[in-house]
Amino acid sequence: MAWTDTIILKSPAEIDTMRRAGEIVAGCHDLASKLIRVGATTGEIDAAVEGYIRSQGAVPSFKGYMDYPAAACISVNEEVVHGIPGSRVIRDGDIVGFDIGALWQGYHADAARTFAVGNISEEARRLMQVTREALQAGIEQARVGNRLSDISHAVQEHAEAAGFSVVRNLVGHGIGQNLHEKPQVPNFGPPGRGPRLRAGMVLALEPMVNVGVPDVYTRKDRWTIVTLDGKLSAHYEQTVAITDNGPEVLTGPLHTGFDGETIG
Ligand code: CO
Repeated sequence: MAWTDTIILKSPAEIDTMRRAGEIVAGCHDLASKLIRVGATTGEIDAAVEGYIRSQGAVPSFKGYMDYPAAACISVNEEVVHGIPGSRVIRDGDIVGFDIGALWQGYHADAARTFAVGNISEEARRLMQVTREALQAGIEQARVGNRLSDISHAVQEHAEAAGFSVVRNLVGHGIGQNLHEKPQVPNFGPPGRGPRLRAGMVLALEPMVNVGVPDVYTRKDRWTIVTLDGKLSAHYEQTVAITDNGPEVLTGPLHTGFDGETIG
């Protein structure tokens, strides 16, 4: 990935612009929560969301990024992230990771949710809940004066206390005029390491939590990341601005993945 060299701090005016980008992303998740249903194809969901982004005067952040072919990443069950939308039909019992970015007036916002379709297993429900809680625990640490790995550690502790594992090969990231900026934000590690957090940093926090082993591989399509053991994975992501008044989530309330319900 084309990481920039330094952590770029954003001014209050820049954060205002990113707040609007974040609202558009939140609108995408509201739309996805309605469209992700038994019988829908991932391709038609992607097309509808791309239309929504463009109707808002924004541009999908992912399309064309390193030649990625779609607006959204839609990753079902054992797919962790970067599933390419297409002819796949959503079925009862699936959990569907939906990840979208929007570029508005030169600034990106990026967020993901995992949605439940019909009757999912108890294990899937618990995985989704723990992954949401792990993200919230990470956001809680996104405070001026903390160190970057305080976020990482909080995410890992919460996921592993529940008996799940965190993916290590993929990380969260700074975000702004570039989709991916410094710093990388791992979802694991000891606390108290890395740069001190400062007001004006904007981070995309994105735990990927697995029922089984943390290991993943990339399918032959060169994008879709899948769990090595074929067990379920969940992914939630928020774009978060670090302010003197604490963390500010720019990408809307967190959908639980059930019936359009949101929290926070
Ligand atoms: Co991201």
